[in-house]
Amino acid sequence: MADPDSRAGHTYLDPKILGFVAATHAPHDPALDAAFQAPQREGLPPIQVGPSEGKALQLLLTLVGARKVVEIGTLAGYSALWMARALPSNGHLWTLERSPRHAEVARRNLATAGVTERVTVVVGEALTALAELEAQGPFCAVFIDADKERYDRYGRWAAQHLRPGGLLLADNAFFFGRLLEDSPAAVAMRRFHEQAAQDFDGVCLPTPDGLYVGIRRGRFVSA
Ligand SMILES: C[S@@+](CC[C@H](N)C(=O)[O-])C[C@H]1O[C@@H](n2cnc3c(N)ncnc32)[C@H](O)[C@@H]1O
Repeated sequence: MADPDSRAGHTYLDPKILGFVAATHAPHDPALDAAFQAPQREGLPPIQVGPSEGKALQLLLTLVGARKVVEIGTLAGYSALWMARALPSNGHLWTLERSPRHAEVARRNLATAGVTERVTVVVGEALTALAELEAQGPFCAVFIDADKERYDRYGRWAAQHLRPGGLLLADNAFFFGRLLEDSPAAVAMRRFHEQAAQDFDGVCLPTPDGLYVGIRRGRFVSA
């Protein structure tokens, strides 16, 4: 059920409730905890997803039986680890990161977690790396979590390289509350949404900053 306030966007979430549900449904695990704490420990920006979003990514990949996955924006490998754990033994995640330092920290965390064989950390500008990855496609899922002013271009790439029924995921879909502003990045984020609506059956889940979830339309998608 909802009430008029929650339908209009009011949230009942607060830090204590968020902490309780995350601890209950995305419980602590040494490798995930190490990857989560890495940005603070290593002097990287602490901008990784929260445990509930990480668990959601993992569950969504499991639901579509994802085997080949692309992540745009690795940081220290926290979300990558959640997703790697959803993959079958012949599955693979390519995670793209322009900062060599972030990539190095991520590689360490992923090695400690024992998922190195299933994950490739690609260092470079995402648009260049995506062009080089095309031969590995079509992909089962793409998760966008990097520079917001290019979400529209990343979304277009995903529409071209996901299989029918493949999953498009994008964090910060509310753009930190600035989605309706006039800045170039807000315009790009709105364009991301508008383009996604054409190629995907999707929804923007009202997580704290919005998690877009869409399924690529195509002949293998049931009505
Ligand atoms: C929000 S963080 C990713 C967090 C990560 N997905 C997680 O939740 O653990 C965004 C990352 O994207 C990287 N990034 C930003 N713009 C990029 C670009 N154009 N190409 C590749 N990486 C980029 C940043 O260096 C940063 O490490």
